[in-house]
Amino acid sequence: MSVQACDLRDDDRRPPANELLEIVQRGLRSQPKRLPSWLFYDERGSELFERICEQPEYYLTRCEIALMDVHAAGIADALGADVRLVEYGSGNAVKTRMLLEHLASPAAYVPVEISAEPLRQSVQRLGERFPQVPMQPLCADFTRALRLPIPPRAPRRTVVYFPGSTIGNFEARDAVALLRKMRGEMGDNGGVLIGVDLKKDTALLEAAYNDAAGVTAEFTLNLLVRLNRELGSDFDLSGFRHRAHYNPMAGRIETSLVSTRAQQARVGRMLARFAEGEAMQVEYSCKYTLDDFAALAGRAGLEVRRVWTDPERMFSVQYLVRAGAPGR
Ligand code: AVJ
Repeated sequence: MSVQACDLRDDDRRPPANELLEIVQRGLRSQPKRLPSWLFYDERGSELFERICEQPEYYLTRCEIALMDVHAAGIADALGADVRLVEYGSGNAVKTRMLLEHLASPAAYVPVEISAEPLRQSVQRLGERFPQVPMQPLCADFTRALRLPIPPRAPRRTVVYFPGSTIGNFEARDAVALLRKMRGEMGDNGGVLIGVDLKKDTALLEAAYNDAAGVTAEFTLNLLVRLNRELGSDFDLSGFRHRAHYNPMAGRIETSLVSTRAQQARVGRMLARFAEGEAMQVEYSCKYTLDDFAALAGRAGLEVRRVWTDPERMFSVQYLVRAGAPGR
């Protein structure tokens, strides 16, 4: 079954410029200043993220793909036949492809992605490779309540697929809320298949977010390029630098844009002042032990049914079901 552009439903579109301005101004007014990390992913930012994934220090993508390479068949087996696969964010779909290769007669594939063009492209490519899988792209913000399209035939279960350790970008409370939302969408019999990055040596973690080629630094600074373009703000790029440190107490990489001198930037009608050395928080990437994550899932009414890891235990893919759900 193939998909035309008009099949894209758009019950949530990207925030209009005035909403973006409000979000950014609110972040600049808070103390310390902070901006949401989804702001990274304009066209250039998505391109840079793809390049980050190719850097030798950024182990996450490589480990998850290696893990899928070994375990995709076992994972597909755990999910069972006739699954409706709902993916949050649709990225470049390398891992999805590996999963679809092994899933037995999936009832539908539903990628949920806020950017229409990348969504269209990824569904186009997957549709060519898996012509027998009904594709039901949904153009929406996956952090909001979703109205999933009606599947063409009744699935045995709905599985929400959330690879890439994107869950790490959410603080615990928000992560629990998101997992709880997935729990609702997947129903009694459903599951969540999620990529979770694991705690490890600080030097390895910090290297992953400070690659020698400087791609991550460019990715972080691109956020200001985007704001200047879309909001007409006047951040001086030469006055900010990328910084990423591991906070062991909080168990997360904290990425900020640090002002290298006292300066100000105009953002709409607002004048934001920065002190020399002032850090503006732009991303958290939370890291978990298997126990940490099981506890987090528990707070969302989910339990870990299966865990797959790479031999070095760098990364994990976990299958979560409703707490107390009967085993298969
Ligand atoms: C896509 C959220 C998993 O936090 O590791 C990569 C984004 N930021 N390098 C991560 C990111 C800096 C990435 N996730």
